[in-house]
Amino acid sequence: MAIALCPGSFDPVTNGHVDIIERTARHFDEVIVAVIRNPQKSQSLFTLEERQEMLREVCGHLSNIRIEYFKGLLVDFAAEHGADAIVKGLRAVSDFDYELQMAQMNQRLSGIDTFFISTSPQYSFLSSSLVREVARFGGDVSSMVPALVAKRLEERFGRAGEPR
Ligand code: PNS
Repeated sequence: MAIALCPGSFDPVTNGHVDIIERTARHFDEVIVAVIRNPQKSQSLFTLEERQEMLREVCGHLSNIRIEYFKGLLVDFAAEHGADAIVKGLRAVSDFDYELQMAQMNQRLSGIDTFFISTSPQYSFLSSSLVREVARFGGDVSSMVPALVAKRLEERFGRAGEPR
């Protein structure tokens, strides 16, 4: 049974993430979406539990997906769960340098390979950090994240267009 790992901060999950997870699920028997417990980037907007809960809801239509969390090295988590590969989305050339470095480091550490899926063009500008920023200042992100996530952002920051 081939198991893939889709790791990330998912703070919050975007339509771009869902696209990559769905496409990965077509190629592997099982996909473990691995949410990092403490994202390195500043303070996370959503707690680990909230990030996992949103992922569970938005991936609910996929039968071969598990949502887990990890701390420490991704390769250790991969070994514990018998993962065969890491799968990442590549949005643009700007992603490539760092992703290649991480893929090579992970390969050196444990022998695990990383497969890259090209992000669908309609999502190539999307990132969780930009979504957070736009939502924080009242921009409309409803076409960029699942409806549930848009609702959570609205609860945090208020509705798009409302004075804050
Ligand atoms: O969604 P993100 O923030 O781009 O995800 C980055 C993540 C969590 C995949 C990456 O930071 C990671 O794998 N962190 C775990 C720590 C680790 O294994 N570091 C060595 C990577 S070569």
